[in-house]
This record gives sequence, C-alpha cells and structure tokens, in this order.
Amino acid sequence: MKENRNVLEVTDLRTSFVTEDGMVTAVDGVSFTVARGEVLGIVGESGCGKSVTAESIMRLLDEDTTVYEGEIVFDGDVDLLSLADERMRPYRGGRLGMIFQDPMSSLNPVYTIGNQLVEAIRAHDKIGKKAAADRALEMLTLTGIPEPKMRLKQYPHQLSGGQRQRVVIAMALSCRPDLLIADEPTTALDVTTQAQILQLMEDLRTEFDTGTIFITHDLGVVAEICDRVVVMYLGQVIEETDVTTLFDEPAHPYTRGLLASTPSVETDNTQDLPTISGTVPTLTQVPTGCRFADRCPFVEDACREQPIELTTLADGHRVRCRRAEEIPALAAEVGWQAEATRGGRA
Ligand SMILES: Nc1ncnc2c1ncn2[C@@H]1O[C@H](COP(=O)(O)OP(=O)(O)OP(=O)(O)O)[C@@H](O)[C@H]1O
Ligand SMILES: [Mg+2]
Repeated sequence: MKENRNVLEVTDLRTSFVTEDGMVTAVDGVSFTVARGEVLGIVGESGCGKSVTAESIMRLLDEDTTVYEGEIVFDGDVDLLSLADERMRPYRGGRLGMIFQDPMSSLNPVYTIGNQLVEAIRAHDKIGKKAAADRALEMLTLTGIPEPKMRLKQYPHQLSGGQRQRVVIAMALSCRPDLLIADEPTTALDVTTQAQILQLMEDLRTEFDTGTIFITHDLGVVAEICDRVVVMYLGQVIEETDVTTLFDEPAHPYTRGLLASTPSVETDNTQDLPTISGTVPTLTQVPTGCRFADRCPFVEDACREQPIELTTLADGHRVRCRRAEEIPALAAEVGWQAEATRGGRA
C-alpha cells in the first residue's frame, strides 16, 4: 500500500563543513522518517542544524566544502546522498519541493509569475506550454490568491509578501512533489497571512498526500500543523514524538524549556516566563557528554561523562536524556509546566 510507505528515511545523517577552524559537524547522526501525507515538524533554537538538515536532503550545500555521511532514502529505494549531481538535479523542484522563509530567494525579479511557474512545471514535466500554463493557473487558483489570472502577468515586486509566498507554494506543489520541505515558510508573514498559508498547506497536503517537513521556531505553528515532531539541539535529535505527547509529556529538559519559553494566551504574561538560560554552544566546542548540560537545571556529573544515546521511552517517543524518567517530577518542582504553553493556538 503506497499510502503507508515512508516517503523519506534519513538514517544517521552527518553533515560536516570544511572551515578555517577545521571540520565542523552541523548535523551529527540525525535519523527520522516522513510518511506520505504526514507533517513532521523540526524545531530547535537558532543554529541547531534545522536548515542544514533540509539542505542536506535537497543537496543544496556547496559540495566542495561539505561532507555528507549516512543515508537519505527517498521513496523506498533511492539514496539521495549517493546520486551524482546530474541525477540529483531532476529531484529538486520535481519530486522534492522546497519552500524557504524568504519567497524572493525562489523568485526571479525579472520574469513574470506566469513565466516562472510555467518554466518550473516544464523543467520537470514534459508537457506543452499550453498545458503548463493551464496547470500554473490551476495551482495558483488553489492557493487562494486573489485574481490568479492577472497575477500570472505580474512581476514578483508587484505582489505582497503573503502573495509571493503563495506563488512559491504553487511553484513547489505544481510538480506534485512526494516530499515538501518548508523551512520557516511563514515567519516573515503577518499573523493573518500566516494562518491562511498554514491552512493552504494543510488543504494541499490532504489533496496531494504529500509528505511534509515543516521547520519552525514557533511551537504554536507546530501545534496547529504537525503530526510528529523532531526537536534538535546542536546538530542532534534530542527528542522525537507525536505532537500530543510533545505538549503533554515532553521528556527532555530542553523541550520543556522551549515549551515554557513560548508565550501563551493562557499564561499570565505579567509573570516572568521560565526560560532556558545560556545559548547553544558553538560547533567548535561540542561538549563530550550531554550537549545541553551547561544549560540544564537538572544536570548531574554523570551527564557530562560520555555522549548520551537516544533511547526509546515509549512507542514512537525517543529522547536523549539519562534522567528522562525523572524529568516530569523535577520539572514540576521548578514550575516548568507544559500544559499551559501551546503557544495559544491549540
Ligand atoms: N556552509 C557552512 N559552513 C560552516 N558552517 C555552517 C554552514 N552552514 C551552516 N553552518 C553552521 O551550522 C549550524 C547549523 O546551522 P543551521 O542554519 O542549520 O541552523 P538552524 O537550526 O536552521 O538555525 P535558524 O533557526 O537560525 O535558521 C550553525 O552553527 C551554522 O553556523
Ligand atoms: Mg534555519
């Protein structure tokens, strides 16, 4: 049954860069799967490796200075990492769609929207200009953009930020991708437009059964759109679970801290929110033991001694913390209650 198959299986992905300070590993042994029709969220603070993970799947990084290890198996049988570049190229913007935070990075200012949509479609589907133009209009109409026919004749600068992001979504989906990677696609948009774009992505996922990776800082967005979530910290997965468990029973202190840091309409905003102190260590100073140790209120000496393994806490719930079982009780003591912190959206 095609529907139940994983569209993507990432196994032990390591992405390292050659830099002036030597090799740095930005993604360090990351594994996850995405099923058809599923939305997998990737969250974590700035610099945790979310975009590098996405760019590794799309193979968008400069291959002269990037070393990939591990496996990225697409649609059950193609290891994207072992494809020669010319064999990888047709996947990008074809069976693999990508939406970035800044829609202008995907649009060319000197061509009309219609021109760019038609080109994107014809680059991957050997169909005539008329058929491609029909599909461009159909896709643009699906995104709910006002006056789609007129938009096709316009240039990117004539559209608002939200309209441009709709065009980029139309472009990414016009080739009916099996996997869509959205990296902070709504962060630059106002709240109303953001809600419309999320609704649009939800509708299109239902319609096309696309597997989606949704990268965001915003746990409110996660509550709204994701089925499962991977929490990253300094290049590693530190927790993976379904979205309900993430909010109701987060196991890693970092996840708890992220949830407690998210402003919520239900939280009394006059009180200080318990937030995580400190910042993410740099890639040249990766701790030997738990990577979160320096910021963790529950750290013990043993946490710093050796790398912490990702362990299975329950079916589909993995966590990288040697004290995971004790965390709910410890967190309650310091007032890190998870329930009231769904970003005000759930
Ligand atoms: N080409 C590169 N060469 C060297 N280091 C890089 C390169 N690209 C990214 N990095 C480093 O890899 C780490 C992860 O970066 P990444 O962009 O994936 O973070 P992120 O989780 O997407 O953050 P944000 O939320 O700010 O988008 C960072 O420390 C970044 O500086
Ligand atoms: Mg990023």
